[in-house]
Amino acid sequence: PFTVKLARTGGAFEVPVGKSILAVLRDHGCNAASSCESGTCGTCRTGLLSGEADHRDMVLMPEEMESQIMICVSRARSAQLVLDL
Ligand code: FES
Repeated sequence: PFTVKLARTGGAFEVPVGKSILAVLRDHGCNAASSCESGTCGTCRTGLLSGEADHRDMVLMPEEMESQIMICVSRARSAQLVLDL
């Protein structure tokens, strides 16, 4: 498990094993856009302000991986991710 913190709207939520960041945000009423939910379309692209992501998508270029994350599939290597949401 890890925590996602929302920089703009506030709030910090735990993401349990087996549940996506996107699903956790939805549970808390955040209206995050998505489409494929399998890491291929790019719709759920979200700014990553801090923390180390465990990228599991097929969308991001290597140079984007520091600053963006696809929240339908990707997870965290650090205890916390701060998202630009
Ligand atoms: Fe398609 Fe996340 S919803 S990449």
